Amino acid sequence: MKPSRRKFIHSALWTTAGISVIGPSQIAWSKANTVIKARSIWDIPTPALLIDREAMERNLRKMKSFLSATNAGLRPHTKTHKSPAIAKMQMDYGAVGVCAAKVSEAEVMLAGGLQDILITSPIVTADKIKRVMALASQSDRIRLVVDRQENVRDLNEAAKAAGVDLSVMIDLRLGWIRTGIDHGKPAMDLLKAIDRSSNLRFYGIQAYAGPVQHVRGFDHRKEASEKALAPAQQLKKEIMKAGYQEPILSVGGTGTYSIDAALEGVTDIQAGSYLFMDVDYLMIGGKAGALYTDFEPSLYVLSTAISQPQPGSITIDAGGKSFSKDKKPQLKDITGVEYSFAGDEHGILKLTDPSKEILVGDKLLLLISHCDPTINLYDNYHVYAGEEVQEVWPVAGRGKSQ
Ligand SMILES: Cc1ncc(COP(=O)(O)O)c(C=O)c1O
Repeated sequence: MKPSRRKFIHSALWTTAGISVIGPSQIAWSKANTVIKARSIWDIPTPALLIDREAMERNLRKMKSFLSATNAGLRPHTKTHKSPAIAKMQMDYGAVGVCAAKVSEAEVMLAGGLQDILITSPIVTADKIKRVMALASQSDRIRLVVDRQENVRDLNEAAKAAGVDLSVMIDLRLGWIRTGIDHGKPAMDLLKAIDRSSNLRFYGIQAYAGPVQHVRGFDHRKEASEKALAPAQQLKKEIMKAGYQEPILSVGGTGTYSIDAALEGVTDIQAGSYLFMDVDYLMIGGKAGALYTDFEPSLYVLSTAISQPQPGSITIDAGGKSFSKDKKPQLKDITGVEYSFAGDEHGILKLTDPSKEILVGDKLLLLISHCDPTINLYDNYHVYAGEEVQEVWPVAGRGKSQ
């Protein structure tokens, strides 16, 4: 928290030195060529999305060093950050490729310089298949998942017409109903259909156990993930027994990365949230206790206290347009305060027993409730170290959910 009184002194000092806090003389250009209007995080207009660069880099290093001791690589999901700049950092930290949820997200990644991109949702309509072929004509490492025979046929026809070879993976259904084909005969028949297709290359299996990521308690999660992934391991064995080259087996997320990377046959982990963490993930519990601390929070929303109609609570300028509403955000470094949504534009902090005084005008950092949908609400990240804004990065894939 930066008390408003201190902010006024700070502003006065800048003014004394003949420099306005956010004026033309202060404007600097980041490497990404984006204007930085504030030098201190406390001068950023709120609500704003902030990355603690050092914490994010510690998360990148931690994932890299953990996976380097296993047989699995990282294929991070860019649906979390929607930023080619961050995806490139992940590649610099040893990722084998990246994931994108939808075609439009993959388009942003390719335009941003990424080449190895797995689209993790089936693409079935003619318009989007056409867009995929345009991507595949620019990179031979665009990869798609399929879970039905008709889709194999449509993709092959489109690939033939476009003169490209397309890399495809079997999307395996794992005990929950979202996408995917069942293991055993249905999956093996799909493999044969891919194999018969002149312009499709079989690359591997995607087996994402979504609900398992948030099972509370490490031991419960381990049991659930091992059970969920057993059919995928079995399918991989059957495929190899049938004489195919070893397929990749791409699984998991932030909640199960350490469990899944130890499983036989797993080649890559699709984690996304590990980079930033959020309240939702902190609560799932880890090996060490009630909080999941394998990675540390590095993403915050900066908000201002703007009104105090009555004692005991204070209103801030960040509501449903600033945080995803499926969980509640929490204040950074201040306990005894509870956030509740007060409409689109506002949140109310109940000051039960605040460990620090909060006054109207104060700026506050809040931990993100749920990172992916929150990031999608912002145009930019303010990247900072200490309290200094270093760069502003666009959320280039914002709104790209097509
Ligand atoms: C297919 C797929 N893989 C990986 C992930 C990444 O999960 P997480 O953000 O929990 O690491 C997701 C997230 O929803 C996903 O849908």
